[in-house]
Amino acid sequence: MKHVLVVNYSQTGQLSDIAAQVIGPLREAGHRVHLETLVPATPYPFPWPIVDFVDAMPECVQLDAPPLKPLSVAADTDFDLVILCYQVWFLSPALPMTAFLRSEAGRCLIRGKPVVTLVACRNMWLSAQETMQKLIAEADGNLRDHIALIDRGHPLATFITTPRWVLTGKRDSFLGMPPAGIAPAEIRRASRFGRAMADALDRNAEKSGQPMLAGLRAVTVNPRLAISERAGRRAFGVWSRLIRAFGQRGSWQRRPILLVFSVYLIVMVLTVVPTSLLLQWLLSPLLKSRLEGLRAQLELPSGSEEFNLEKYDESR
Ligand SMILES: Cc1cc2nc3c(=O)[nH]c(=O)nc-3n(C[C@H](O)[C@H](O)[C@H](O)COP(=O)(O)O)c2cc1C
Repeated sequence: MKHVLVVNYSQTGQLSDIAAQVIGPLREAGHRVHLETLVPATPYPFPWPIVDFVDAMPECVQLDAPPLKPLSVAADTDFDLVILCYQVWFLSPALPMTAFLRSEAGRCLIRGKPVVTLVACRNMWLSAQETMQKLIAEADGNLRDHIALIDRGHPLATFITTPRWVLTGKRDSFLGMPPAGIAPAEIRRASRFGRAMADALDRNAEKSGQPMLAGLRAVTVNPRLAISERAGRRAFGVWSRLIRAFGQRGSWQRRPILLVFSVYLIVMVLTVVPTSLLLQWLLSPLLKSRLEGLRAQLELPSGSEEFNLEKYDESR
C-alpha cells in the first residue's frame, strides 16, 4: 500500500470532480490517499466581479500569491507520490497552487518526491505548466507525468463561454455555443489515470524515473496555440509590471490602468486572436514540420499516444 498526496483547489467544483475520478481507483486498489484542499487566507470570489478578475492578473503572472490557511497535513509527512491538481489563471498557475509551491510546507512535501501535475482549464496551459515545472524543480520535486484536460469547444467560442462562466457563474450553452468547461464524459474518463497510477504504484514504478501514464492520451497539444500563448505571456509580463507600479492588488490607484488593460484584453480577443488563428491556419502547410516537432516536445513527459487506452479506459 502506498501513500499518495493529492493537492487541489477548485472554485466551480470542476477540478475537484476530476481529482475524485483519479483518486477513486487509487483508493479501490488499496492505496492511502490524502486529499489536501487548498484554502486561501482570503477567499477568491466566484463568480468574479470584473474588477477583481482583471486585478488578479499581475500577481498571477508575477507569482506573487497571497498566503493560504495552514495545511491539514504535516509538512514532514512522507508520501510516495504527489499529484498537483491546478487550473490556469492568466496563463499562469492559479494563485492557490502558486502559494502552495512557494510555501515552506508545500516545498517540504514535494522535496525528492515523484510528482504528477493535472491541469484543467479552457485550453491554454502551456505557459502555466512551464511555470509549474520551474516551481517543482526549485522545490526539488521530480515531475514524472502531466495530464491536461481542456474545454473541447472551438477556441473562439470558449473565448466567450469561459469568461461568461467565470464572471457570471453561468455555464450552460449560450447563443448556440457549447456549455463551458470540460465535458462530463471526459471528466469520467479521467479515472483511467487513477487506474494506471494504482498499477504503477503496485509495481513500484513511481521510483523508476519513467512516466507512468504513457499511452493514455494524457496530453494533446495544439502547437498553434503555443505561438499565441508565447505572445500573450510576453504581453502579460509587460502589463503586470506596469500595473504593479501603480499600487497593490485591491488598491484604487490601480483602477485607471486596470481599465486600460481591460480594453486591451477585449480588443486583443476580438481582433488579434482571430487574425493570428487565421494566419496560422493559412501558413500551417509551411510551418507543419516545425509545429510537429514543437508538439512532440510540449507533450512530454506523458504524451498523446493511445497504446494503453484499451487496458485502462473502461468507457472504450
Ligand atoms: C482569474 C481567472 C483567469 C483565468 N485564465 C485562464 C487562462 O489564462 N487560460 C485558460 O485556459 N483558462 C483560464 N481560466 C479558466 C480556469 O482555468 C478554469 O477552467 C475555470 O476557472 C474553472 O476552474 P475551477 O472550477 O477548477 O476552479 C481562468 C479563470 C479565472 C477565474
